[in-house]
Amino acid sequence: MTSSVAADPLPATPLEFQHEALELWVMRVADVDPAQLDPSVLDRNERLRAARLARPDDRLSYLAAHILLRQLVGAWLDLPPQNVAFLRELCPRCGAPHGRPALDSPSEPLHFSLSRSAGLVLIGIAPTPIGVDVEIVPPPETIAEVSELLHPIERKEILSAGSSRRAHVFTTIWARKEAYLKGIGIGITADLAADCLGAAEQATTLPGWTVISLPIAAGYAAAVAIAQAPNHNKGPAREHLRLQGTHDVILPNRRQR
Ligand SMILES: CC(C)(COP(=O)(O)OP(=O)(O)OC[C@H]1O[C@@H](n2cnc3c(N)ncnc32)[C@H](O)[C@@H]1OP(=O)(O)O)[C@@H](O)C(=O)NCCC(=O)NCCS
Repeated sequence: MTSSVAADPLPATPLEFQHEALELWVMRVADVDPAQLDPSVLDRNERLRAARLARPDDRLSYLAAHILLRQLVGAWLDLPPQNVAFLRELCPRCGAPHGRPALDSPSEPLHFSLSRSAGLVLIGIAPTPIGVDVEIVPPPETIAEVSELLHPIERKEILSAGSSRRAHVFTTIWARKEAYLKGIGIGITADLAADCLGAAEQATTLPGWTVISLPIAAGYAAAVAIAQAPNHNKGPAREHLRLQGTHDVILPNRRQR
């Protein structure tokens, strides 16, 4: 199929995982040439959302993230970006249509998740449901306020971290929690103490899910949550979920898409 839109791939960098079926891409919005961002590849909802963003850097980040998502998913499906159709799943908590974004093509075994924070975009694509989150380290007031809402073990991890590590430990926990809550499709809920994700660098398992931290850039924390496949054979096995070394978003080698 040929595209009517000339869409150069945006400058995203892949994180190398030891599981070929899971793709993680990170992009620095500052590396994107705004002239590359053609909003006509977006659907009506995405264009309306972009238009409602008053701050130019928010709009740029939104456009870059959603065009990159279309390019990556389109590459998997062999479709031009503008032909990828999305929907919102029903929220597993209340049934309203604000659950996980998904492909409007239920027969495709392809899932994705997107996150944006302070000039970084993180996108995950996998054969089973996935959630990703990237967070810039927040100010101390936010850390103090939100820590109170977390699981007791997480609160203890934050309090027992030395003052130089406390912000990093908090942000790591928060990214892991949000990746998991996005994976299950609920998003940030009233009860942030319900599940313990912790600040460990290695994989944590919760029923049906594996959550792992992603060291992607100084001053940020990031994480991915991946659902196990129903038959436990198709999804990424826990022992495969290890990053090959540490990564920085300035990595020069870009994979061809
Ligand atoms: C979804 C949510 C976690 C996003 O957090 P955030 O830190 O603001 O933003 P991030 O950049 O990490 O993620 C945003 C992306 O998550 C995705 N997303 C939105 N809702 C989602 C959901 N329910 N599940 C999984 N992913 C979701 C979208 O792709 C969104 O991208 P967009 O805003 O560019 O369209 C947060 O906005 C939230 O919890 N919202 C409320 C959900 C809610 O109403 N829950 C109650 C259910 S009854």
